[in-house]
Amino acid sequence: KTTTAGPTDGLAVLEQTRSAAETYGIPLAVLLEITHRCPLQCPYCSNPVELDRGSTELTTDEWKKVLSELAELGVLQVHFSGGEPTARKDIVELVQHATDVGLYSNLITSAVLLTKDKLSALADAGLSHVQISFQGNEPLVADRVAGLKDAHRKKLEVAKWTRELDMPLTVNAVMHRQNLHQLPDIIQMAVDLDADRLEVANVQYYGWALKNRAALMPTVEQIEETSRIVEEAQARLKGTLAIDYVVPDYYALRPKKCMGGWGRQFFNISPAGKVLPCHAAESITGLEFESVRSNHSIAWIWQNSEAFNRYRGTGWMPEPCKSCEFREVDYGGCRCQAFALTGDAGNTDPACALSPRHEEIFKQAEQESAGSQNRFLYRNFAGGTLEADERQDKH
Ligand code: SF4
Ligand code: FES
Repeated sequence: KTTTAGPTDGLAVLEQTRSAAETYGIPLAVLLEITHRCPLQCPYCSNPVELDRGSTELTTDEWKKVLSELAELGVLQVHFSGGEPTARKDIVELVQHATDVGLYSNLITSAVLLTKDKLSALADAGLSHVQISFQGNEPLVADRVAGLKDAHRKKLEVAKWTRELDMPLTVNAVMHRQNLHQLPDIIQMAVDLDADRLEVANVQYYGWALKNRAALMPTVEQIEETSRIVEEAQARLKGTLAIDYVVPDYYALRPKKCMGGWGRQFFNISPAGKVLPCHAAESITGLEFESVRSNHSIAWIWQNSEAFNRYRGTGWMPEPCKSCEFREVDYGGCRCQAFALTGDAGNTDPACALSPRHEEIFKQAEQESAGSQNRFLYRNFAGGTLEADERQDKH
C-alpha cells in the first residue's frame, strides 16, 4: 500500500511515511468522531470526561480534507461517530465526500435525531452501513439508561427505515447489570429488525463509565449466563445474525488486546482534529496528541508522534508484561484502563490476573456488583454541547 505525505512535509517525510506503512501499516478503517454533542446521557459514555466544545470542531472543509487525505493513504473505510454524528448539519455532505473519494462509510448513531428524509439523503450520498446503539429491548429500561424519553421507539423506527432503504444494519447493545436480563429479547429484537450483526458489548470501565461502575458492574453469575446465552444464539442463528461478544475484562484472566495493540491497527480523529491511538486516549493526562490542523500529515503523526510511539510495541513494558509469554498477544491490555485504575498508563492493565493490582481491584468490583447501588450519574450534555436548534429538531 502506498502512502502520501501532507503538502507541508516534503520528500524526506514521504520516505518516512512509506516506512510507516511498511512497519505498522496504515489502518484500513478509521473512526471519525465528528462531534461530541449528543442528545443521550448514557452513564457508560466512552467519550473523554472533558469534551470538545462545538466551537472547536473541525469545519466541513477541514473534515473533507481529512477524508481526502485518508483515501490517499489507502484507508478503505471510515466510521462516522461521536457523540452523535447526525448532530452535525453537514453529515450528508461529509458522507457524500467520503463516497466521492472512494471511502466506504459507516454511521455509528443513536438514531434519535434522524428523520426518514435525512436517512434517505444519507443513503443517496452513498452511506454503506448503519450501526444503531440500543440500551435495552423495551422503553422502560432503554429510555432510563439513555436518559431520554421516547428514544427506544425512535431507534426501532430508524432501524426499520435503514432496512427499507436496503442498507445493512448492525445493532449495538451495550450490556451491564441493569439490562443483562434482557439479552435473549435483545437478540430476538435484532433478528426481527433484520439486522446483519449484533454486538453484545459489555461496558468497559474507564471514562464516564468508571463513575457508574457500582451501578453497572455485572455479577459473576450474570456473566456466566450471558456467555451461555450468546454461545447458544450464535449456533442457532448462524447464517441469519452474526453475534460479536465483548467479555467484560474484569472477569477474564487476561486483558483484551485493546485497539489491537496501541498504535498498531487503529487510530481515530477527535472532533477538534486530534489524531488519537484510541477513542479514550485523551483521558490519559500528560500525553500530547498532534492535530490534523498542525503542519504534519496524518501519516507522519501515525508514524512519528510521541503519543503513538509511547506505548507502541513491547519496549515500554514493565514487569510482569516485559518477560511474559503473552506480551505480543495482548500488548499489556488497555492503556486507558491502566491509567484509570492505577494512575499510570505505563502499568500492566489491572484486568490481567498477573498485575499486582488485580486482586484488590477485582474484589472491589465484585463487591460493587453485589451491592444495591442502582442510581446512575448521567452524562449530562446540558450547557451548550447540543445546540438549541438541534434540541428543537428532535422534539
Ligand atoms: Fe498480558 Fe502483561 Fe498480563 Fe502478560 S502480564 S498476560 S503481557 S497484561
Ligand atoms: Fe484506550 Fe484501551 S481504550 S487503550
